[in-house]
Amino acid sequence: MTDIDVLLEEHRKFKPPETFARNANVRSAEIYERAAKDYEGFWAECARELEWSKPFTKVLEWAPPRSKWFADGELNASVSCVDRHARGERANKAAIIWEGEPGDTRTLTYAELLDEVCRFASVLDSLGVEKGDRVSIYLPMIPEAAIAMLACARVGAVHSVVFGGFSAESLRDRIVDAGAKVLITADGGFRRGQVVPLKKNADDAVAQTPTIEHVVVVRRTEKPIGGTEASMKAGRDKWWHELMAKASPTRAPTAVNAEDILFTLYTSGTTGKPKGIVHTTGGYLTQCAVTTRMIFDLKESDVYWCTADVGWVTGHSYIVYGPLANGATCMMYEGAPDWPEKDRFWALCEKYGVTIFYTAPTAIRAFMKWGAQHAEKHDLSKLRLLGSVGEPINPEAWMWYRENIGGNRCPIVDTWWQTETGATMISPLPGITETTPGSATVAFPGITAELLDDNAKPIKVGGGLLAITKPWPGMLRTIWGDDERYVKTYFSKWPGRPDLYFPGDGAKRDEDGNFWILGRVDDVLNVAGHRIGTMEVESALVDHHAVAEAAVVGKAHDLKGQAIAAFVTLREGINATPELLAELRDHVGTKIGAIAKPDDIIFSADLPKTRSGKIMRRLLRDIAEGRALGDTTTLADPAVVAALKDQYESIEG
Ligand code: WT7
Repeated sequence: MTDIDVLLEEHRKFKPPETFARNANVRSAEIYERAAKDYEGFWAECARELEWSKPFTKVLEWAPPRSKWFADGELNASVSCVDRHARGERANKAAIIWEGEPGDTRTLTYAELLDEVCRFASVLDSLGVEKGDRVSIYLPMIPEAAIAMLACARVGAVHSVVFGGFSAESLRDRIVDAGAKVLITADGGFRRGQVVPLKKNADDAVAQTPTIEHVVVVRRTEKPIGGTEASMKAGRDKWWHELMAKASPTRAPTAVNAEDILFTLYTSGTTGKPKGIVHTTGGYLTQCAVTTRMIFDLKESDVYWCTADVGWVTGHSYIVYGPLANGATCMMYEGAPDWPEKDRFWALCEKYGVTIFYTAPTAIRAFMKWGAQHAEKHDLSKLRLLGSVGEPINPEAWMWYRENIGGNRCPIVDTWWQTETGATMISPLPGITETTPGSATVAFPGITAELLDDNAKPIKVGGGLLAITKPWPGMLRTIWGDDERYVKTYFSKWPGRPDLYFPGDGAKRDEDGNFWILGRVDDVLNVAGHRIGTMEVESALVDHHAVAEAAVVGKAHDLKGQAIAAFVTLREGINATPELLAELRDHVGTKIGAIAKPDDIIFSADLPKTRSGKIMRRLLRDIAEGRALGDTTTLADPAVVAALKDQYESIEG
């Protein structure tokens, strides 16, 4: 049985503010019908917004589960993202406004960005990188990350960015899997006032990677912690600034086929070997560009800030490719949100006049926990649109975001998508969609999302499995080196239906047709025959004024099948008491029903999260069921789960 119970009711609704709607990039809901009627035509029209050196004549070739988009067209992603702006009226417009954690700043106009991208493309030539070769990038959040990615695109090489917070072993595994020829790294990066020893990790990794021929090192920290002159290995390692000084500032873009690979990116994956998700050029860039323009309502004068790291797909699609394809001005920030103080993000918004702000629920819940006083210190009146991505956003977090950051005036776009989908799939269009806290609302024009049961029967209203029923331009094309796993993981959920994509999420749909993502299907609770999504119980907890964040898991129970264990983080200044515990349990009962009352509630200062900020419920399940902890290598902070385990065991006694 795959139906999921629907417990949480949320009826607050927000229409787009009138002036926003009047000036929005998309003003008429007619776009949905138009896209539905001729969806290939719709996507072709979007693709024509890019610059093609050879225009495509074919739109879609679909041999489930394999798609090709614009397959006889040729283009170069760096041309659409940089050259065409640098050539025209945006030449002196800021493309990237960057601030380092210590407070140093740098601005690159489109003309300057083109110069840098061409130079680094020339550097890649000089290192023997050819079309189709893989280049690994292991950098902090500095402009060189975007420059390196775009330079790879320019020469037709495949970039494989590895998040700078990953260890030497994780880096090694990803380099080996990709078979990369060149690694681009830095001496270090700044995080919470500390130096992350990137070059040292890179050295440890490269000692065990047979394919790396050269390591290019950006001088960022100048701290003697790896990355010193002494650590530069003769013949293999080269300083970025020395290569760039000699490199040619002109380098013609290599035309690639629309279906040539632009990049691979490894999904963190909570278990198993990381999957190298493969994205190609034409379709991916098309969907990035149009979703950025329509969902963020991007205008010429906007200062747009996506707080993700370029090491995640959000950074690829919504720091680099989507915004630059639109000629936007993008903020980029190197460090932590609470360094040196918990108001750093708001200080940056004020200083640079940020108008569009896109972040993750995990960050929003941290802001809630720290309190609104940090945002109140700053003038956030230039903000006009807020976005959320990465996890379901609990309705109370959504309301907090709207009130305290958005001043009750900014529309919120809750965007559902995945590394695999390349770009946003379900989201409001801020000028036309009525939003409701906690719902990502409806599929983007040209995207077909449905709720299905186990037999692929559509569920119109209620809870079930989310499916994408038609191909889309930004979809992954395969898993690097593992075609079979691609088919098995994403296109085998419904036997005999290789045309149906299964993202692995459960969802519900309400009477208005809005989608609510309920969490990963693997995390769904089964209490006395009721299948309950983690998001609903967690949202009921976060609905209580004392709670900033919650994670619930099922633990084996003799009678009920599963009982619910909840791990709860309180807002700052609130004490954990037995009375509060009882109150929270009752609150869940009143809010969504007695069936969902947690048997155990554990207060915790932090929750175990992946390095991209997602709650790792699998580990909480291990704790709740008294098992030895499974694989903890993808945890951001292993100390959190060790402490929780001790605490849980002392309660269980
Ligand atoms: C998974 C994908 C999308 C880029 C960042 C994460 C969850 C993502 C939402 C949202 C509810 C969301 C899903 C999805 N997710 N956005 N708006 N509402 N859940 O990329 O690491 O590939 O993770 O994140 O579970 O499947 P990713």
